[in-house]
Amino acid sequence: MNLTVLNNSLIEHKVSLIRNKETGTKEFREIISEISTLLCYEAMKDAKLEEVEIETPICKTTAKILKEDNYAFVPILRAGTGMLDGLLNVIPNAKIGHIGLYRNEETLTPVKYYYKMPKDINEREAIVLDPMLATGGSACDTIKCLKNDGVKKIKFLCIIAAKPGIERLQKEHPDVDIFAAKVDEYLNENGYIIPGLGDAGDRIFGTK
Ligand code: PRP
Ligand code: URA
Repeated sequence: MNLTVLNNSLIEHKVSLIRNKETGTKEFREIISEISTLLCYEAMKDAKLEEVEIETPICKTTAKILKEDNYAFVPILRAGTGMLDGLLNVIPNAKIGHIGLYRNEETLTPVKYYYKMPKDINEREAIVLDPMLATGGSACDTIKCLKNDGVKKIKFLCIIAAKPGIERLQKEHPDVDIFAAKVDEYLNENGYIIPGLGDAGDRIFGTK
């Protein structure tokens, strides 16, 4: 199974706070960022490390460190940028690629309006960021673009993953590991996750 769900009471508590429509933009943004950091820790659980010689205040020793410039974070505009700080807090040297997609409100298919990746993206592991995995269209299109660019290792991090989106992503890209804070069952007729948290972009940027 390539789906990891953060099973933790504190995360459950934080997700409940952002589900609440009374939670304002500032707190919403802060919690998205906090949860994103924790998703990043989970996604890096088995990351390759390299050995270096260092000196502690007491003695010389061999230590293992992460090769930070192996990674590219790829937030899906707009809402994915809300997760970026949470990851950069812990892996500050990653490069960043942007993809702009919005969902056509009638067909729910994603429309691409921007794409700019680091030049050496094909040599990096891509960590795709989007708080919401609903139908899975935006995630699948993003991953397709990255694979077309030669990216071989991709992970997808989200706050809420809906079952239809998980199924589609697993079917179209079984090689991509998915990390989610919470799984929801359904989408409504407008493609919104139930119970979800509403429109993540609007809530992060205060546009509605
Ligand atoms: C939202 C969300 C995802 C997408 C998920 O973006 O941030 O990108 O919908 O839906 P899907 O799994 O059905 O593709 P939206 O289109 O609302 O754009 P925005 O981030 O600019 O608000
Ligand atoms: N995009 C969102 O922002 N929220 C949803 O519930 C579904 C897609």
